[in-house]
Amino acid sequence: MAERAGRVEGKAAIVTGAGSTPGPGIGTGKATAVALAREGASVLLVDLHPERAEETRRMIEDEGGKAEVFAADVTRAAGCEAMVRAAVDAFGTVDVLVNNVGRAALGTVVDTSEEDWDRALDINLRTAFLASKYAVPVMAAQGSGSIVNIASISALRGDGTVAYSAAKGGLIAMTIDMAYSHGRQGIRVNAIAPGHITTPMVLSVTAPGPRAEFMNAMRSEAGLLGTPGDGWDVAWAAAFLAGDEARWITGAVLPVESGVLSVTPLMMAPHLRAVPEPGASRRAVP
Ligand SMILES: NC(=O)c1ccc[n+]([C@@H]2O[C@H](COP(=O)([O-])OP(=O)(O)OC[C@H]3O[C@@H](n4cnc5c(N)ncnc54)[C@H](O)[C@@H]3O)[C@@H](O)[C@H]2O)c1
Repeated sequence: MAERAGRVEGKAAIVTGAGSTPGPGIGTGKATAVALAREGASVLLVDLHPERAEETRRMIEDEGGKAEVFAADVTRAAGCEAMVRAAVDAFGTVDVLVNNVGRAALGTVVDTSEEDWDRALDINLRTAFLASKYAVPVMAAQGSGSIVNIASISALRGDGTVAYSAAKGGLIAMTIDMAYSHGRQGIRVNAIAPGHITTPMVLSVTAPGPRAEFMNAMRSEAGLLGTPGDGWDVAWAAAFLAGDEARWITGAVLPVESGVLSVTPLMMAPHLRAVPEPGASRRAVP
């Protein structure tokens, strides 16, 4: 059988938010950085909390991979400019940029404050804009590059997170526009729309206990497969889009969501009602 080289063998990658919120499981940024390293890339692990990225570096180095930590706030232009310079200094170039930093925020247009709105747009959209602003010229100069933006199904379906949804929708629009503007420079730009995956960030929202177990079960049962998704599911999709196997894919939004976008919600009702809700009396299924 032919030996397969890594999907991103010899490439230089930047992953923003490459640490992980502390807790059980693994975040999408951390998993993506590890997956890219397993597939042969050298990875710059960028995080506001460098100690979180250090854990990722240890994981990569324990497996024989190559990674460096870079502390930066990617909501700031100076942080993004320095991050790209650091990747070029360490690895010679930037072939892959994964814009992973982001955070959900609950709220309607009525109860979202202007500050909350700005914060959501900053962390979910401005970060990808600024990181790309400095990475694209490096990619254009070498005539190749792949950018993967981590969006969300919240950009495509209503769920009461108006600022987050608007930001992730903007990220998808930006993905498509960048794919147009930079295609002739050999740069591909794609987005991933993760669904109800279970990550330490998600788990940190609900204290451990029956309520958290209920929410976990609901996240699984809402999808066509009825199984839980995690950071690795996003990571392997990102590794594929980052590499040359995806050389003819650009401007795409890849859902990683156990098919929740492919079903009318009513069809899932029997599965969701089968999950016992803590403290609630069982409702009759009509
Ligand atoms: N978990 C889900 O269910 C889900 C669903 C859809 C989309 N997503 C998206 O996945 C992405 C990340 O999720 P995750 O699980 O890796 O999160 P995470 O919280 O585990 O990791 C994100 C990392 O980003 C770092 N970070 C935060 N702000 C930063 C900044 N300004 N500059 C640099 N680093 C910063 C944090 O320190 C953290 O280590 C987000 O874009 C999120 O919107 C998650």
